[in-house]
Amino acid sequence: MNFDKLALKYGTPLYVYDFDYFKNRFKKLKKAFKARKSIIAYAVKANSNLSVIKHFSLLGSGADCVSIGEVKRALLAGVDKYKIIFSGVGKRDDEIKEALSKDILMINVESEAELAKIAEIAKKIGKIARISIRVNPNIDPKTHPYISTGLHENKFGVDIETAKKMYIFAKKSDFLNPIGIHFHIGSQLTQLEPIREASAIVADLVRSLKSINIDIKFFDVGGGLGIRYKEEKLIEPYDYAQAILSTLSGLDVTIICEPGRFLVGNGGYFITKVLYEKVNGDKRFIIVDGAMNDLIRISLYKAYHKIEVLSSVENAEISKANIVGPVCESGDFFAKNIKAPKTNPGDLIVIHSAGAYGFSMSSNYNTRERAAEVAVENGVDRLIRRRETFEDLISCEIDYLV
Ligand code: LLP
Repeated sequence: MNFDKLALKYGTPLYVYDFDYFKNRFKKLKKAFKARKSIIAYAVKANSNLSVIKHFSLLGSGADCVSIGEVKRALLAGVDKYKIIFSGVGKRDDEIKEALSKDILMINVESEAELAKIAEIAKKIGKIARISIRVNPNIDPKTHPYISTGLHENKFGVDIETAKKMYIFAKKSDFLNPIGIHFHIGSQLTQLEPIREASAIVADLVRSLKSINIDIKFFDVGGGLGIRYKEEKLIEPYDYAQAILSTLSGLDVTIICEPGRFLVGNGGYFITKVLYEKVNGDKRFIIVDGAMNDLIRISLYKAYHKIEVLSSVENAEISKANIVGPVCESGDFFAKNIKAPKTNPGDLIVIHSAGAYGFSMSSNYNTRERAAEVAVENGVDRLIRRRETFEDLISCEIDYLV
């Protein structure tokens, strides 16, 4: 990847995505599940750029969405509507109504109250809602607490007993068609056992539902496969698939898998430019033009991202430095006390593993225009989102004119 050339052409801060890498990751995961019917439903939240979604949809991907906005993105990007799932703990009435009228594969339900609401809305608009229920298997996924979701203390899904009640309610309703079951125990998973355990618990529930004539067709295992940011020991896609498949004996279900980070995380780079260096007491700071509003994972989760300093200083002296952005927060840093060569203004800094939850979690804090996004495919680069302008940022504000 020629970061210098891309930064010169498109400016900084800049997100760059390796679309060939995305494709390979998709194919690898799809292949891992080849023993069964499967849908890989890309988790749009990881990177919601329409071109990224389209890239996956052309490979046959579905989409896992958590707002009607994401559902609309998926449809706009050409994803087959019967491969779209709409999840989320708090769907509004208007979102449910629109999802039903768009006739997507299924709505993933996260509470009894929501199930009743979906039935009510479906009745009102004369539809039968295809649903799955998100089961919370109470399994510790052994990941960061902020991205762990499969324990009862988390807000996601319902326990097994409640799920059963909900399936019976749905079966009896004329406006609900329970076709799927769902679980997602967390993100950045690096251990196989919690996944296997959760899958086994949910598969048992599917068997007991079958015994009362509730026939589940889609077994949705969520996303969460971890990637290497630093030196993590990873789960191989094949082993992941095998662990799940091993729990499904006797069940004729289509697997749905909702990876986000696995597909895009390590194919994305965030490129920022050095503005200045300064020293405060004994602390050295490299001040760059990107900031926490562009990539918040480091300040929000204390996440590690590999950082490459492309210094133009000859025989540059190396010393410890903090790499910080221009935002007015002490939390606005990309690295603290890392060994970095002396830099000149204009030198580039490349932050790796930025393809997932990078741009999609960015904001306009401090009235900063969000970065441009570029795709590189077969050695050719193209702009997939132009840099925002000040006019974009103020375009929704109306009152000040009167
Ligand atoms: N399915 C469901 C129901 C989810 O909640 C998530 C992620 C995924 C799939 C995709 O998970 P993945 O394969 O990407 O791990 N912002 C955090 C991650 C939050 C994940 C939320 N749910 C981060 O930057 O690490």
